Amino acid sequence: MSKTTKDESATDKQTLSHTEQHYFDSYDHYGIHEEMLQDSVRTLSYRNAIIQNKDFFKDKIVLDVGCGTGILSMFAAKHGAKHVIGVDMSSIIEMARELVELNGFSDKITLLRGKLEDVELPFKKVDIIISEWMGYFLLYESMLDTVLYARDNYLVEGGLIFPDKCSIHVVGLEDSEFKQEKINYWHDVYGFDYSPFIPLIMREPIVDTVESTLVNTTRCKLIEFDLNTVTLEDLSFEANFQLEAKRKDWISGLICWFDTVFPAPKGKKPVEFSTGPHAPYTHWKQTVFYLSDDLECEVGDVLKGKLICSPNDRNNRDLDVKIDYEFVPKGSKERAKKNENTYLMH
Ligand SMILES: C[S@@+](CC[C@H](N)C(=O)[O-])C[C@H]1O[C@@H](n2cnc3c(N)ncnc32)[C@H](O)[C@@H]1O
Repeated sequence: MSKTTKDESATDKQTLSHTEQHYFDSYDHYGIHEEMLQDSVRTLSYRNAIIQNKDFFKDKIVLDVGCGTGILSMFAAKHGAKHVIGVDMSSIIEMARELVELNGFSDKITLLRGKLEDVELPFKKVDIIISEWMGYFLLYESMLDTVLYARDNYLVEGGLIFPDKCSIHVVGLEDSEFKQEKINYWHDVYGFDYSPFIPLIMREPIVDTVESTLVNTTRCKLIEFDLNTVTLEDLSFEANFQLEAKRKDWISGLICWFDTVFPAPKGKKPVEFSTGPHAPYTHWKQTVFYLSDDLECEVGDVLKGKLICSPNDRNNRDLDVKIDYEFVPKGSKERAKKNENTYLMH
């Protein structure tokens, strides 16, 4: 069985662009893995999904795309997989080697260092792909591209992907005070006018936890991806939304989050988790897009629009997001607003 030895990588890091090197460097440090491991909603969902499907995992060949510390590989090996191949480009895989050995899985798990796209797997095909690839706003980091590459090149017909369904959702938010504070600061920085910063600040979505009490509209599913069939092209998308105000208030921004669903045995409820403001904390938190307007709303007023998302041209791990919106208050033309806002997630 082919194994890369310590420090050997199928990918020569020096050949990667600076942004790619930086991306993989960010997974070298233990801190980011600590945060992910300690996100028990995330990690236990993977474990529960594997346990729920242990009859399917039994004697199967599993590919763990971006194995990090090897946690998902070990879950799969512990719960019946015949062999697991874990692949990671970051140096954290050297720790994964130690952990796999320490925990007695060396004969069941092969770890390969390099980009998934460059490594040579010891098996032509795998029965199952597991991967924790989700980024902020689901698609930030563009790691799903790598999972789709793995699917198209290595997954047997009828094989399973864990997780296999992800959807992005949107809801309205009242947060005018924080937004104003954030903006006003730049009007007087130690007595100087720093207001040219404001458009830059407004362009950046904020990743943070949002109190569910700040949510003030109905919610809307923007898009759903079925990992069994989704293509790279589908990851650049336009989605319409329509939200209805639930109380007399101000809508100062939109909150987005994603939900994740794992395959389940026939007739069984799938393991799933949400990263929304209504759900328990995850390290993905929520993504807030402040609107350039504060919309004064009454119950039943409608905020509709279109969200357009695509990888950024200069760095495809960043995301360009455009939100076109039209606020349609019931019977009050004065409060109506229409606008277009652009954002860059980086
Ligand atoms: C979000 S972390 C998940 C780590 C681990 N699976 C877990 O659940 O704790 C994603 C990992 O994928 C790796 N990765 C991302 N793209 C990759 C690629 N194209 N080839 C190999 N590894 C990749 C990163 O280095 C990182 O360690």
